[in-house]
Amino acid sequence: FDEKQFQYDLISWYKNEQRNLPWRENQDPYRIWVSEIMLQQTRVDTVIPYFERFISKFPTIEALANAEESDVLKAWEGLGYYSRARNLQSAVREVADTYNSVVPNNPKEIAKLKGVGPYTAGAILSIAYNIPEPAVDGNVMRVLSRILGIWEDIAKPSSRKTFEEVTRHIISEEDPSSFNQGMMELGAIICTPKSPSCLLCPVQNHCRAFKEGSQEELPIKSKK
Ligand code: ADE
Repeated sequence: FDEKQFQYDLISWYKNEQRNLPWRENQDPYRIWVSEIMLQQTRVDTVIPYFERFISKFPTIEALANAEESDVLKAWEGLGYYSRARNLQSAVREVADTYNSVVPNNPKEIAKLKGVGPYTAGAILSIAYNIPEPAVDGNVMRVLSRILGIWEDIAKPSSRKTFEEVTRHIISEEDPSSFNQGMMELGAIICTPKSPSCLLCPVQNHCRAFKEGSQEELPIKSKK
């Protein structure tokens, strides 16, 4: 496996083909954070207008920290899973009080924030700060299982660690932001759960599943 060529092909494709999404307008860690929390249980198309409205109402860490919780929940209405909004505001208040309103840029401190799990921590660190940390969610596990031919049950809670470990070996040190977002974008547009568009895939040459014709069998995902 040629990780350098893989990184180059993935990142070039991402730079040319990425969707214009409002949280990609800049690298503000607060905006990235809000977007990743919204995207956890909600689809991109649904999130877009909520994200725009939320950021207009609460444009900064300070604005969200000082807002009334009832106003925050109102802005979240329709997205569901309201604990996401409560945890977000509570963690944002923690950043305002403890870190002078600057989102921490290291894995240890960012992981302590309420509602920020390993995926969200990796997404913020890589996308906002360009730090080479894995950001592995179900979509990224699907893409990786196909590219590398990993026949591990992605429904097992322990699997995420396996995929994070693998990602540490192949992530771009030069542009981890485009690398991780390229993996997410590939999962969204090309490497879909059913009938992936392998003939259009920018990393087809690197894909073990495509080579072996197992793209429809991977990932292994047991029903819980
Ligand atoms: N899903 C999760 N994070 C995402 C992001 N940053 N862009 C698009 N889809 C996503």
